Amino acid sequence: MADISIPGRNKGFGVTMRTDNWRTAPFAVFLGLMAFSGYIAWAAFQGEYYWWSGGTTGFGGYLSPLYSPLIYIDQTAAGSAPAWHAWIGGPWPSWWPSILPASPAFLILAFPGAFRLTCYYYRKAYYRAFAATPPACAVGGIPQKPFKGETGLLIFQNLHRYALYFALIFVVILSYDAVLSFFNDGQFGVGVGSIVLLINPILIGAYTFGCHSFRHLVGGKMDCMSCSMGRYKTWKKVSLLNSRHQLFAWLSLFWVSFADFYVRMVSAGYIKDLNTWGL
Ligand code: FES
Repeated sequence: MADISIPGRNKGFGVTMRTDNWRTAPFAVFLGLMAFSGYIAWAAFQGEYYWWSGGTTGFGGYLSPLYSPLIYIDQTAAGSAPAWHAWIGGPWPSWWPSILPASPAFLILAFPGAFRLTCYYYRKAYYRAFAATPPACAVGGIPQKPFKGETGLLIFQNLHRYALYFALIFVVILSYDAVLSFFNDGQFGVGVGSIVLLINPILIGAYTFGCHSFRHLVGGKMDCMSCSMGRYKTWKKVSLLNSRHQLFAWLSLFWVSFADFYVRMVSAGYIKDLNTWGL
């Protein structure tokens, strides 16, 4: 990509003619991303209390979305899921580095993590809030070499379209977990946790299906929109979600953390889940 020269770009950090409070947004983003990424990292390191169910053999239960899908399970951990729920099961693999806790979250979090890290909205957010390049529109940023696009060090950002394919699979998996949460040891019912885990894939789906890459996938490269009304209608719906992408990025990030917190609190016995199973 050719160098792009922006007049006044390197006039000094914070130099601007803006009179509004432009500092609020990057500061709020900084605090929000620190808080949620900190919580998610903490939860991943726990390796326990990510599952709750009244029984151990029947279908159903609450699974933290930060641990889903389960590949391996360490069944000696408190609050761990039954082996039938894991793709491979237990015992925990012997090749696992002893420096890390035996946490199923470590086996899967790279996929949603890569999707969010390379998301077009989050890039804007953390480039501004963490790197101040620039901190806001029409505000001088930290002086840097001429902008060369996302090449060199940042070339990995181009992997976003591939991260999307994995994210779409996660929407299906988390939807299955939502169905699972309406059963407990084979009995259909409803609990507060069922509602929490149902809202989660709805918000993550709204975020994922509003992705810029997904919008391109369904409507890109079309010279004649009216030639394929199905794709055109899908593209319009995706565009609607896309226009609220920032909103769903934050709502889904908040809710996936909250859903983990809720399952963790119920599993550890700190709060009692209100439900129709009488548990
Ligand atoms: S652009 Fe944000 S998820 Fe793809």
